[in-house]
Amino acid sequence: MIQTILLTCTLLLSTFAASAADPTYREPFRPQFHFTPATNWMNDPNGMFFYEGEYHLFYQYNPFGDKWGHMSWGHAVSPDMVHWKHLPLALAEENDIMIFSGSAVVDWKNTSGFGKDGKPPLLAIYTGHYTKKPLQNQQIAYSNDRGRTWTKFQGNPVLDINDKDFRDPKVIWHEPTERWVMAVAWPTHKKVRFYSSPNLKDWTHLSDFGPAGSTTGIWECPDLFPLSAKRGDNRWVLIVNVGSGAPAGGSGCQYFVGSFDGTRFSLDPSYPKPQSEFVPQGKLIADFENGYGDWQISGDAFAEAPARGTLANQQEVAGFRGQSLVNTYHRGDQTRGKLTSPEFEITHNHLSFLIGGGHLPGRAGICLLIDGRTVRIATGDNAERLSWKSWNVSEFRGKRARVEIFDQETGGWGHINVDHIVLADQPARPASVPALWADFGPDFYAAVTWSDIPKRDGRRLWLGWMSSWPYAGDVPTSPWRSAMSIPRELTLRQTSEGLRLFQQPVKELEKLRTKKFQKKNATISELNEWLSKEKFSGPMWELELEFDAKSLSKNGGELALHLLRAANQQTILRYNTETSTVSLDRTQSGNTQFHNAFANTFRTQLTKANTSPLRLFIDTSAIEVFGNEGEAVITALVLPKDATEPIQFKAANEKLTIHRFTAWKLKPAVPIFQE
Ligand code: FRU
Repeated sequence: MIQTILLTCTLLLSTFAASAADPTYREPFRPQFHFTPATNWMNDPNGMFFYEGEYHLFYQYNPFGDKWGHMSWGHAVSPDMVHWKHLPLALAEENDIMIFSGSAVVDWKNTSGFGKDGKPPLLAIYTGHYTKKPLQNQQIAYSNDRGRTWTKFQGNPVLDINDKDFRDPKVIWHEPTERWVMAVAWPTHKKVRFYSSPNLKDWTHLSDFGPAGSTTGIWECPDLFPLSAKRGDNRWVLIVNVGSGAPAGGSGCQYFVGSFDGTRFSLDPSYPKPQSEFVPQGKLIADFENGYGDWQISGDAFAEAPARGTLANQQEVAGFRGQSLVNTYHRGDQTRGKLTSPEFEITHNHLSFLIGGGHLPGRAGICLLIDGRTVRIATGDNAERLSWKSWNVSEFRGKRARVEIFDQETGGWGHINVDHIVLADQPARPASVPALWADFGPDFYAAVTWSDIPKRDGRRLWLGWMSSWPYAGDVPTSPWRSAMSIPRELTLRQTSEGLRLFQQPVKELEKLRTKKFQKKNATISELNEWLSKEKFSGPMWELELEFDAKSLSKNGGELALHLLRAANQQTILRYNTETSTVSLDRTQSGNTQFHNAFANTFRTQLTKANTSPLRLFIDTSAIEVFGNEGEAVITALVLPKDATEPIQFKAANEKLTIHRFTAWKLKPAVPIFQE
């Protein structure tokens, strides 16, 4: 990643002019309540701490342009994490050393000796990135004036292992051992290194953690903090941001739950174990290795023999078994048709199959027919890769059935891929990498928590950079680039799967609420009528949706909410009642063209299927979805034109009832300028 960054840096001068425009905070796509710098490039949040009534937010900042480069620490303060005041640059690149990510603390006991007039000094601990040699090491700076000015320590660096990739120190005061502990990333080793210090200047190596969990990408921006599910239950959370391999495709934020004894971090016994793919033996209905066999064909979608893994549009299909698979992309998406199996008896409890291609409920997919009636149906996920899906078919045992693969869609993604249909006693299960993710959207990275939140408050608070390295430099905004997520409170909760990190928007965000709208026990069609009448258009909403997932499941199918709508534009939130899957689809969300990784759908699963409240924060260019009180979160940038059309619900069954739908129109909270 850093290599890419350095390349981008050399391009900096050519894009420099873009920062000349005056910021108005009314520019197209300018978030109205997410933090953005007035002008220029921003990435990771840095050095967040609370002191004398102020939440401090520093951030990776380029003072000279709107692309990554000349990394320095920008600075803002806020009384509530919602309303920000911009302050001058806190730490600037100097002597060919950029100021990379890091943390800051209040040195209450003046262990560093930098205190003045009986007041504790503020210490920033950051990575010095050398631009003329391959080296990164850890350095410190201090402030004696509430963070308004900072002095770099003469004795820098304070920690140097002579490595070109060694960065993002997060320092905490470890109460039990009464010393400072640093968690710092060793990116290419996929490790977090722990060090201790009595005074923030002399550091001793304690231990290393990793590789573990997600190891596809480099490890960056760690954080370590205590967080307990119950009183007296001393757990620790280790945050590791990873450069790639996250569920949404690019960079992301994984976490580990465990214990920290002052020296070593150990994983909790409940941490998920690796699982390999399980393909059940049973009755193979079809694997399409010898063509379509005696399946019946209608239409032109199946005109050619099963594909061998590369579609006519050159896309690779991963995950199929054997040599070939069925796909309906012949010469393009416009082909349509049906492929129907011979009759077979349901002799086992589960029917599993591999499926990929378009997400087209009712338009393209696979279904199970009994007495000519569709009793089960599935579609793809807008991804070519085949993944396992299964139906429990125990209630049909002994009956005669057929499987049908169908494609009636001629537009974008209008094709479906299928392989290996098998009836067996157990469902098939995909291989799983045991990683836990803080966010399932593409745009939540480098998240770290605030230090020194007063004990009487007791919350663990954080936010993340709301962008993603693959396209961050191309997001078409000016004269600024990138925003932070909304601030969130972290808790640890016991779920049926083990201890999990939950995130909820901080209560201070309620200050943004203006008019409240609410409708109880209304059907989808009643809600839609009301939403149109009340003119639920425009950006900036907080929405809350409560429904009984069980009754929803009986009514079958999928519930969808179409947001930020205009002609040919919508961002779609979907809830699948059978799988408890929440997804956010930004494929038609507005400007998606600026990078080929942008138009995509992101999904996550909720464990408690019974009550499924969904909470959403919608700004001019971002959506954050919190499922099940923050058990699962999806953060995604969107770049819509003005949302002129009202929010609308869609469901197969218009009579579906939503228990409670609440909406608040939000007001802006744009930062103000320096004191
Ligand atoms: C993460 C990161 C950090 C580094 C910073 C540089 O996004 O790559 O590892 O300190 O950005 O701007």
